[in-house]
Amino acid sequence: MTRILLLGGTTEASRLARALAESGSDAIFSYAGRTGAPVAQPLPMRIGGFGGVAGLIDYLRRERITHLIDATHPFAAQMSRNTIAACAETGVPLIALERQAWVAGQGDDWRVVPDVEAAVAALPGTPARVFLATGKQGLEPFAAKPQHHYLLRLVDPPEAPLPLPQTSVVIARGPFEAGADADLMRAHGITHIVAKNAGGAGAEAKMHAARALGLPVVLIDRPALPPRRVVGSVEEVLGWLAHTGTERGV
Ligand SMILES: NC(=O)c1ccc[n+]([C@@H]2O[C@H](COP(=O)([O-])OP(=O)(O)OC[C@H]3O[C@@H](n4cnc5c(N)ncnc54)[C@H](OP(=O)(O)O)[C@@H]3O)[C@@H](O)[C@H]2O)c1
Repeated sequence: MTRILLLGGTTEASRLARALAESGSDAIFSYAGRTGAPVAQPLPMRIGGFGGVAGLIDYLRRERITHLIDATHPFAAQMSRNTIAACAETGVPLIALERQAWVAGQGDDWRVVPDVEAAVAALPGTPARVFLATGKQGLEPFAAKPQHHYLLRLVDPPEAPLPLPQTSVVIARGPFEAGADADLMRAHGITHIVAKNAGGAGAEAKMHAARALGLPVVLIDRPALPPRRVVGSVEEVLGWLAHTGTERGV
């Protein structure tokens, strides 16, 4: 019997959840629990961490999971590393559903950096107005450049005081649209954008808006992960499920 654990938190995961529900699959959808009101799913849901690799191994065994699908965000590297380790230990087949990274086109002014610290260093010394489009995690390092005004777009209102002295906060959940993002950047007098190379159409709006406005983007590259099976579409995951037996499952 196939029993799937789907790790979510992305548009692609929600799309896959719909396909699994429509096909009557026995699947559990897992959220980290980072947002106040996660998008409802047409599958049984669980919310919260597993407790590291050991906790995930326990969960896979206890729930008799036969297939693990990692459809977390490309920057959710800890969770993805844990899936690789837990599946190696238990023999549960693993597949990652991951969107393609964005590639610079004509008119883009990107400075690609390896991590958040390098993004801070890439911002100018003179005061700027920065659209810090990286979510609520990883804001602290930008306190090293307090001379800038930071525009933040967050899913939930911040619960604690922000670590940055000059901010504007917009509460919104994607997908976004390029025209509206350009209006937002104009309204806030944005001069620089900091983004993660998340990939995907909904988050790409700000990149199109930056191009249209001729604004420089400091783009944080994806974290490197150990080798694993990765596909880019829901259909490929469904094909893998159909052709990957359960005999190696726990
Ligand atoms: N990072 C981003 O930029 C970003 C953007 C959009 C959405 N998200 C989504 O937000 C969630 C958290 O991202 P993150 O960057 O904080 O992840 P992370 O740093 O890789 O994960 C930290 C810990 O959170 C728990 N966790 C993460 N995803 C989980 C899931 N789907 N189900 C159950 N536990 C999960 C795990 O805890 P245990 O070790 O206790 O199991 C994991 O070790 C992910 O589901 C991701 O898809 C992230």
